Amino acid sequence: MKYPKVAVIGLGFMGRTHIHSLRRLGIEVYGVAGISEDEAKSAASELSIPKWYRNSDEAIEDPEVQAVHLCTPNNLHFSQAKKALISGKHVLCEKPLAMTMIESRELADLAKEKDLVTAVNYNLRFYPICQEARARIAAGELGIPYLIHGAYLQDWLFLKSDWNWRLEPQQGGNLRVVADIGTHWMDMVTYLTGLKITEVMADFSTIHPIRLQPTFEIATYAGKLEKNLSTNEVSIKTEDVAVILFRFENGALGNVSLSQVSAGRKNFFWFEISGSKSAIRWDQENPNELWIGYRDQPNQLLSKDPSLFYPEARALTGFPGGHAEGYPDTFVQVFSQFYGAIASGKMPETGKFATFEDGHHEMQLCDAIRRSALEKRWVKVSEIEKQ
Ligand SMILES: NC(=O)c1ccc[n+]([C@@H]2O[C@H](COP(=O)([O-])OP(=O)(O)OC[C@H]3O[C@@H](n4cnc5c(N)ncnc54)[C@H](O)[C@@H]3O)[C@@H](O)[C@H]2O)c1
Repeated sequence: MKYPKVAVIGLGFMGRTHIHSLRRLGIEVYGVAGISEDEAKSAASELSIPKWYRNSDEAIEDPEVQAVHLCTPNNLHFSQAKKALISGKHVLCEKPLAMTMIESRELADLAKEKDLVTAVNYNLRFYPICQEARARIAAGELGIPYLIHGAYLQDWLFLKSDWNWRLEPQQGGNLRVVADIGTHWMDMVTYLTGLKITEVMADFSTIHPIRLQPTFEIATYAGKLEKNLSTNEVSIKTEDVAVILFRFENGALGNVSLSQVSAGRKNFFWFEISGSKSAIRWDQENPNELWIGYRDQPNQLLSKDPSLFYPEARALTGFPGGHAEGYPDTFVQVFSQFYGAIASGKMPETGKFATFEDGHHEMQLCDAIRRSALEKRWVKVSEIEKQ
C-alpha cells in the first residue's frame, strides 16, 4: 500500500507512541512539531525523522504532508484540526476532540464537508478481546444487556504534589477525569453494545483543592519520579473523582467510577455487562482475557486466541494465541484502519475507528455530565443535543 507522508504534532507521551506505531505499519513519519523548535529538532534527531518544524502551523501547511496526527494538549486540538482540514490534510486527533461541544460540532461538520479521512483516537476499542466481546454481543450471545458498569481508576495524580497540564482548565478543559479517561470508558461500552447513553446523573469530588505546581514543565507521568521540586500552591477546579449513573437507550442501567487518585490503580479500566443470557467482564490491566459468566453452566475465561474468535475480531488481532497483545497494539489497529480508509478514498462504514462525529458525541456526554453534577439532577442527553 502507498502511504501518505505524515506529520506528528506534539512529542510527549502520545506523540512518541504514535510515531512508533506508524513505523510498525511502514508509514513514513516525514516531520514533527512540538512546543518549541528545540523539542522538534531533538525529537527529529533522536528518532531519525527527516524534517522538523518550528511550530504546528508550519507542519500543517507543508504541501508535502498529507496527514497529521494531533498529539497536543486538549486546548490545541480545535484550532489545529480546523487548520489541518482547511489545508486539505487527513486528521487523526487525540481525544478528547475539543474543549467544548461547540468546537467539536464545528469540527465534525467541517470533517463531513471535506473529502478527507478524520478520526479521534479512542484506541482502547481495539484490544482484540474487546473486538471479540463486541462480536459476541452483536451475535446475541449476551442476550439483552441490562446492566453496564465499571470503573477507570489511576493513581498518577494521587498526591497533592503530583502535577500535569491536565490540571489546568485552560489546557485540559473544565472536566478532567470525565474528559480524560471517562470518555474512553463511555466510548468503549457504547461501541461494544451499540447502545446510546440517553441520560446521566453525576457527582464529582476534588480531593486536592490545592495542589503544588512545579515552577517548570513536567512530563506526563514523570511526576512520580521527581523529588524536592520548587512549587507554587494552585487552586484546583476540576474533579479528581467522578461517579456517574447512566440510562441507555434500551432501558439498561449503568454506572462508572472514575478517579486519578486511587492508590495502586495504574490504569485500571474495567467493564462488566450483564445480559439476559450471559455476562462479560474485562479489565485493561489483564487485557488478554475475557470473563464470561453463566447462570446454568460453568463460567469461562477466554484467552485471546484469534482462532477462537469471530472473523471480524480475528481480522483485528495482530498475533496468534499465547502472544500477549496490549496498549501499543491498539494504536497500530487504529492507524491501519485510518490509512486503509485514506487508501480507499473514503471513510469506513460505522463501527470501525471513532470518527469526529463520535468525538463530538463524547463532548455532548461530557456537557450532560457536567450539567448534572452542577445542577444535582438527571440530565437527558437530548437536552444537550438540542443546543
Ligand atoms: N488515546 C490515549 O490512550 C491517550 C493517552 C494519553 C494521552 N492522550 C491524549 O493525547 C494528548 C497529549 O497527551 P500527552 O499525555 O501525550 O501529553 P504530553 O504532555 O506528554 O505531550 C504533549 C506534547 O504537546 C506539545 N505541545 C504543547 N504545546 C504545543 C504547541 N503549541 N504546539 C505543538 N506542540 C505542543 C508538548 O511539547 C508535548 O510534546 C492529550 O489530548 C491527551 O488527552 C491520549
